[in-house]
Amino acid sequence: MAEELVRTENPSRPEPPANPDIVVVGGGIIGLAVAWQLQRDGAEVVVLDPAPGSGASHAAAGMLAPIHEAYWGEDHILTLNLAASRAWPAFADALGTEAVDYRRDGMLMAAFDADDKALLDNTGDLHDQKGLPVERLRSRECRAREPLLAPAVRGGVYSPLDHHVNPRLVVAELLHRVPTLAVAATEVAPRRVVTDDGRVLGCQQVVVAAGAWTGRLLEVPIRPIKGQIIRLIGPPELLRLPVRGVVRGSSVYAVPRSNGEIVVGATQEEQGFDTRVTAGGIHQLLWDVLTLLPGLSELEMVETWAGLRPGAPDNAPIIGIGNDGIAYAAGHYRNGILTAPITAAAVAAVVQRRESPVDLSAFRPDRFRAPRAAPSPTTAAAEPPRQVSA
Ligand code: FAD
Ligand code: GLY
Repeated sequence: MAEELVRTENPSRPEPPANPDIVVVGGGIIGLAVAWQLQRDGAEVVVLDPAPGSGASHAAAGMLAPIHEAYWGEDHILTLNLAASRAWPAFADALGTEAVDYRRDGMLMAAFDADDKALLDNTGDLHDQKGLPVERLRSRECRAREPLLAPAVRGGVYSPLDHHVNPRLVVAELLHRVPTLAVAATEVAPRRVVTDDGRVLGCQQVVVAAGAWTGRLLEVPIRPIKGQIIRLIGPPELLRLPVRGVVRGSSVYAVPRSNGEIVVGATQEEQGFDTRVTAGGIHQLLWDVLTLLPGLSELEMVETWAGLRPGAPDNAPIIGIGNDGIAYAAGHYRNGILTAPITAAAVAAVVQRRESPVDLSAFRPDRFRAPRAAPSPTTAAAEPPRQVSA
């Protein structure tokens, strides 16, 4: 998508420094948050992006949901997401809690039929095992929390720890604070970036945060996972809190904003870099959300959109300095809005050779590289001695 978008300059944005200490490639929520953190730590920073804020961060619903995004077998992601959740209040406060519409209403996960309830109970066992704070609700209790829910709903789980924010407002606030250049990187090295308008920018450290496009710049297996969304508009507070649902085995969510918008999402599709909105994708979302929340059917539909989640093979982000000397902040998949502040703090720490606030060992950039096999005594003996040239 980056290539298709018009280059944008923000008139109220700070001027890029002549000799930046740090060049960040990619101006989605991750690159901008990293740049802002480094800038607050005293570095001169510039973000390169032909269309900042136009990637996955523009599509995202803005759920900050460590609990309802917890899955079996992903303990290290859960630990990161819980730390990310704890980092959000201070991050939102520094940007302006109301300016970014950061809200702590909690989140309700509802099951439509008995099979959906069984799926929820399976995740409930994980919540119990990890001691995560949730309330299991019967059908009537679900509807007491969110009266728009269909009476047929079988039960649900309320999580007070899962908050939400408007990611487009977060990006806008960050763009007021961080200098950007409307260029794309074509080549990156630890201390140098070549841009598509022929510039060569030197610096002390390059950070790559190019979302789903990171694999086009670096040898890392990040792929795009398409998500289509719908934006509805109605009276503010019509939907009291974010609702996620399993509807006959299919997942859907509806996330309210304070201005009356409701973001309905999202498909999960392996379609490469295709960002077309499709009839089938929108049909499925509408079918599921109106089954769960029939009262939304009268609302005006003001937008359909698709974005590309940056996903690594193990669903975990890639954070840290690689063996190639480049700093990575990529692959945040379904939780990049949630994990932006903690990623920013972690990347700033490793760039400044300080201890990261979170354990990054599971998120190492080089974890996908095959370990080099040690030469066996026989092959080592059979190899001719290497010539060392002067
Ligand atoms: P992006 O926002 O995609 O930004 C990458 C940027 O890099 C782009 O602006 C692009 O123009 C730029 N770029 C690319 N190539 C180059 C180059 N060569 N040179 C310079 N710049 C370049 N997460 C949550 O936490 N909660 C949610 O509720 C949520 N909902 C989602 C719903 C949908 C439908 C989708 C698609 C995602 C959702 N996510 C959510 C995930 C979240 O949006 C992503 O994890 C996050 O936005 C990733 O941020 P990013 O900055 O890495 O990538
Ligand atoms: N985290 C919600 C999504 O990726 O759709």
